[in-house]
Amino acid sequence: MNISIEVNRKRITEQIEPDLLLIDFLRRHGCSSVKRGCETANCGLCTVLLDEAPVLSCSVLTARADGHKIETLEGLQEEAEEFIGFIADQGADQCGFCNPGFVMNTIALLRENPDPTDDEIRAYLAGNLCRCSGYEGQLRGIRAFLDSRKDRGGH
Ligand code: FES
Ligand code: FES
Repeated sequence: MNISIEVNRKRITEQIEPDLLLIDFLRRHGCSSVKRGCETANCGLCTVLLDEAPVLSCSVLTARADGHKIETLEGLQEEAEEFIGFIADQGADQCGFCNPGFVMNTIALLRENPDPTDDEIRAYLAGNLCRCSGYEGQLRGIRAFLDSRKDRGGH
């Protein structure tokens, strides 16, 4: 089947197999930040944004993204850099395995809700499994970022 998808602001039009998973399509197109973890929609590692909403690319057919817009970490470096240092400062980044999915979910959260409460942050990140730490360090990092943004006169 023929599909046309905007990936990180670049349109890709090509023939694909109908059962091609989105994760495989994206990795084939150089999006190596999209990692394969559980492959059963449980870990969050393969998260990408489909029309701004986070989806698990291991569980979505590429055909579903036809005519839509996908963003991966490769296209979101600037947005991610704004808060990534705050997370690292809290020592939340241990092995780093969960990092890409965590960053994608945080970007989606902050776009949807620029001033979330701690409970809202926890609820949003609950699907992103971290084997090394609880969410506390990551939560503190996001909170520190939000506070510093407020101090700078942002949201
Ligand atoms: S690899 Fe997709 S949720 Fe784990
Ligand atoms: S830092 Fe190791 S899985 Fe999260």
